[in-house]
Amino acid sequence: MINILVIHGPNLNLLGEREAEWYGETTLGFINEAIIQEVKKLNCKVRIEQSNLEGEIINLIQNSKKWAQGIIINPAAYTHTSVGIRDALLAVNLPAVEVHLSNIYKREEFRHKSFVASVCIGRICGFGPSGYILALKGLISFLKKEKV
Ligand code: DQA
Repeated sequence: MINILVIHGPNLNLLGEREAEWYGETTLGFINEAIIQEVKKLNCKVRIEQSNLEGEIINLIQNSKKWAQGIIINPAAYTHTSVGIRDALLAVNLPAVEVHLSNIYKREEFRHKSFVASVCIGRICGFGPSGYILALKGLISFLKKEKV
């Protein structure tokens, strides 16, 4: 059984009421339900966490080693600032996928820099909530060492 940890970073708890032009109207609860349904189909297990606190996200990553084989993370604003989250991902050395709802390259220049990109196996951005499902499929396929 493959266990996956999904981490949503700061302000993602406000999806549905926050900057709909970038993030749409889907709530985090709805996204999480979609992830849970997809994971059932893929015969895996998932834990989903959201935090607005950088240190808490670092603790989640550190503790994931005990349980998870892979991580899906949308570090939100911390993507562009956090050496601590990058170092935690490096420390646990689990395959991780970076997800962004919006296409960060269509936005302000400060969002073009990601501290986590180069320590992740891949990234999905710009596909809205379905990005999490694509990330799940990609990560599981990576863990199963599927060829296509
Ligand atoms: C985001 C993009 C970040 O730049 C932003 O700070 C977020 C959300 C996204 O999912 O598109 O909070 O990670």
